[in-house]
Amino acid sequence: MKNVIVVNGSARCERGVTALLLAPFIEGIREAGAEVELIYPIRYHIKPCTGEFHCWYEKPGSCYIKDDMQDLYPELRGADILVLGMPVYIPLPGAMQSFLNRLCPLIEPLLETRRGRTRARLREDVRLSRLALVTVSGWWEKGNCGTAVRVAKELAADMSIRYAGALLRPHGSFILHHGEPTDAGRRVLDAARKAGGELIEKGDFSRAVRREVSRPLVPRGELRTRYNWAYSDSNRPPVKSDQESGT
Ligand SMILES: Cc1cc2nc3c(=O)[nH]c(=O)nc-3n(C[C@H](O)[C@H](O)[C@H](O)COP(=O)(O)O)c2cc1C
Repeated sequence: MKNVIVVNGSARCERGVTALLLAPFIEGIREAGAEVELIYPIRYHIKPCTGEFHCWYEKPGSCYIKDDMQDLYPELRGADILVLGMPVYIPLPGAMQSFLNRLCPLIEPLLETRRGRTRARLREDVRLSRLALVTVSGWWEKGNCGTAVRVAKELAADMSIRYAGALLRPHGSFILHHGEPTDAGRRVLDAARKAGGELIEKGDFSRAVRREVSRPLVPRGELRTRYNWAYSDSNRPPVKSDQESGT
């Protein structure tokens, strides 16, 4: 049975749009017969990497920082697939960044050049063979997810494992209206479930499922108007009630 670790980097945990998309995605993975562990880095005590390369040259494969990451290393070593659930926070949520930096002990710095780039690889005791990305952004275009895609691709290449592809969900908050999925939003969530199954059954995501997850949910102009309205509304001076103003 395949083991999948899904990392939800959102600071909003279950309340976030990343969690909304990951829920059916994880169901799809489980329906396809794999085991899933879901972790929220913000709920762990994960200190930032101190950049000493202790895990590469002093005590290879072992991080000297004694915090919750020590509990996660065995799980990460034993998983087959790593899924990064990465919301765009210009560029990443802080806890996610620390988590990614602290993956360094899993990587062996035996360097080689591939396609004009210097790359490392995973240590032999790390089972991971694939990395996939599920990313959510607030604004309209898929291009807002570009940095997350770059980060995930770079990490897969530096681990020398297969990049299984990405589900990009721009303007993700429009999946819901008054707390319920719209018709289009429901199609996005159904596609996310299908994508979870595909990841296990064929190792990546079909173009059809990727397109459906990314489908526009609202015209670009309408999104701009709604965001700008919410902003200007929140900055309007509060209107005093008759009682407060004494009239
Ligand atoms: C600090 C911060 C920076 C953000 N930067 C961007 C951005 O550059 N582009 C974008 O499209 N959305 C941006 N967003 C919007 C988030 O991607 C969006 O709210 C998303 O739903 C967050 O996922 P979550 O709800 O799971 O936390 C930003 C949000 C935060 C909190």
